[in-house]
Amino acid sequence: MHRNIKSILFPAKMIRKRIKTLGKEISRDYKGREPILIGVANGALVFLADLMRALSCPAKIDLIRVGSYGQKASTSGLISVAKDIEMDIAGKNVIVVEDIIDTGLTMDFIVRHLQKNNPASIGVCALLDKSAARKINIKINYAGFPVTNEFVVGYGLDYAENYRHLPYIGILKPEIYS
Ligand code: PRP
Repeated sequence: MHRNIKSILFPAKMIRKRIKTLGKEISRDYKGREPILIGVANGALVFLADLMRALSCPAKIDLIRVGSYGQKASTSGLISVAKDIEMDIAGKNVIVVEDIIDTGLTMDFIVRHLQKNNPASIGVCALLDKSAARKINIKINYAGFPVTNEFVVGYGLDYAENYRHLPYIGILKPEIYS
């Protein structure tokens, strides 16, 4: 275990198992529809890569990256698109893929942004759901694991761009970020 990690919350094997189940659910729900998975870079990249390989229905992928002004934006009006999707999603079924939904402001912004392109449907899939931190109501169609208000890193999630490479999700020692 990395020296800055207090404890492992979700070992790699547990993540694999959960993604297998999510993959089955999505494949069943989108059978015959070929969804477009839109990963929210950078955090969702690891999850996106594993999730798409857990699908038995054909799927396409694209990426979006958003930026927020300030350390923690308190309204989604302070979020902007840093890199937009490149695919034409009009009339298509899209699923936004996130590593974590915290306040919900990022996802709220992204869903509103994508809606302007008139997709047939927008689903939301998040590996981690930190519902206690929510500032805006978000409907998550596919959620991996609930998490409490601790600082989680690994499997794509970072603190100051570190720890994304860890194969597990762990709780960061408070002395590292306080
Ligand atoms: C994280 C995460 C979500 C967002 C969730 O991204 O990947 O996109 O924060 O927070 P919210 O629900 O409070 O809006 P971050 O801005 O850390 O960038 P990253 O994806 O590059 O890690």
